[in-house]
Amino acid sequence: MMRGVSQLLTMALIAVATAAPANAQDAPTAPAQRWSFDGPFGSFDLAAAQRGFQVYSEVCAVCHAMQYLHYRDLAGVGLNEEQIKAIAAAVTVPQGLNDQGEPKEGPGTPASQFRSPFPNDQAKRAAHNGALPPDLSLIVNAREGHADYLYALLTSFADAPPGMQMQDGMNYNKFFPGHQIAMPPPLQDGRVTYADGTPATVEQMAHDVVTFLTWAANPEMVERKQIGWRWVLFFLIMTGLTYAVKRKVWSDVH
Ligand code: HEC
Repeated sequence: MMRGVSQLLTMALIAVATAAPANAQDAPTAPAQRWSFDGPFGSFDLAAAQRGFQVYSEVCAVCHAMQYLHYRDLAGVGLNEEQIKAIAAAVTVPQGLNDQGEPKEGPGTPASQFRSPFPNDQAKRAAHNGALPPDLSLIVNAREGHADYLYALLTSFADAPPGMQMQDGMNYNKFFPGHQIAMPPPLQDGRVTYADGTPATVEQMAHDVVTFLTWAANPEMVERKQIGWRWVLFFLIMTGLTYAVKRKVWSDVH
């Protein structure tokens, strides 16, 4: 059963991922933002990623699943075991079947998958005007423009320009291919209250949640960069050593 659902979700994710670029040419290129994880020495701003998780769970999780994440993975954004246990225990997750063979639910544990807002795709579509809120686990990698596109999407809801025919229940967004998106603007200033006192502007929440989503899709990115630099260092040292040895060996030959 769970497998069937997750296969469906994966197929839906692929369908949405491959459908988007087809008419991507009519949406402008998202402007580049400054990200802590940019460049060869980049790393995740963990405070931002933690705030981003808060935005995801308080705002986006009402509609979007992140099926590839488990609560214990949050150690990767710097949360400790106690915090993770508390976060997991606060949600209700499916726990197999009861003695009568009916689906059972109970508090999550660090090993639980992130809670899905809808039991299946039909329920998701029914709640959203026929459109499917895609799983956000890998969305940063699945969209051209990656983090910059997501930031632009979340910060560019507006009234449709005069003369543009909007379909019922659709929202205008400059950066969404076709400019009509079934997602209502999810962020408004002050939508969440950050524990660290950071003002929750739309831009700040968008930046934080995109940092979190980039980490979710690429949890090993920083490690990969560090391994890369270790190899560079190794080759530099080896080159230096080889040169020194060569000088020594040939120093008597004139
Ligand atoms: C009320 C439900 C709802 C909420 C809340 C919501 N979304 Fe969505 N989202 C949708 C729906 C529906 C779609 C599919 C839109 C479409 O295909 O027209 C969508 C699509 C998306 C997409 C894909 C866009 C693309 O290029 O295809 C991203 C990324 C996204 N949402 C991110 C978020 C983030 C981040 C949040 C939280 C800040 C959020 N959403 C909150 C309903 C929601």
